[in-house]
Amino acid sequence: MRTPLLAGNWKMYKTPADTQAFFDGFLPLVAGTTGRDAAICPPYIDLAVALAAAKGSNVGIGAQNLATGKEGAMTGEISGYMLQTIGVKYVIIGHSERRQFFGENEAGVLSKTIAALEYGLIPIVCVGELLAERESGSTEAVLGAQFDGGIAPLTPEQFAKIVIAYEPVWAIGTGKVASPEQAADAHTFIRGKVAAKFGAAAAEATRILYGGSVKPDNVAGLMAKPDIDGALVGGASLDPKSFAAIVNF
Ligand code: PGA
Repeated sequence: MRTPLLAGNWKMYKTPADTQAFFDGFLPLVAGTTGRDAAICPPYIDLAVALAAAKGSNVGIGAQNLATGKEGAMTGEISGYMLQTIGVKYVIIGHSERRQFFGENEAGVLSKTIAALEYGLIPIVCVGELLAERESGSTEAVLGAQFDGGIAPLTPEQFAKIVIAYEPVWAIGTGKVASPEQAADAHTFIRGKVAAKFGAAAAEATRILYGGSVKPDNVAGLMAKPDIDGALVGGASLDPKSFAAIVNF
């Protein structure tokens, strides 16, 4: 039985003061929620406030990126080791915006995933196709290549600890959510890849989240699909009421 994970990705939004205000509003709305995991992934500068606010609650805190290695002369970077020392639990890896604007590729996704696991963080590894790729019928080829390059080289022990997020790039921040059927087809394909590489038990245990314009009014339809195990939520995670409605779907 897979516990759903509802994770908010704040991207480059919110100051520490905004973060405190968010948690003041959000935590009471999810205090009684059970049977699912909730997480917020704020910008680095908000992590300390988020961790302090969420302490003792049922909400885990994640980062949006990490650098490989423990420490070193890497101007502007933050390592998994550093994230672990302050109590961060999750880290998003290979988000399409990282791929698009910062040149991240499968090799980088793989090495960051291994680095996250080395320091006990739960990687949320993102895959997803562009609109042109979907329209040309290459969605499965793209997802397959992302899986083969970024995820399949993990050992079974490493793989057992990751979460996968399917995020069709055309649905991110566009308001164009994938239909539950489109999302479920992709999830089933990815779970098939997991089964082929890591076996049926691993495929059964792996959480695959959907991301891309998830809102309070479409989350239930997505979550009704057996292969969809949660959501990675951008815009709708910025508002406490809206994200609480998603967590409490
Ligand atoms: P969105 O972003 O919910 O704003 O579409 C999702 C994501 O990028 O993870």
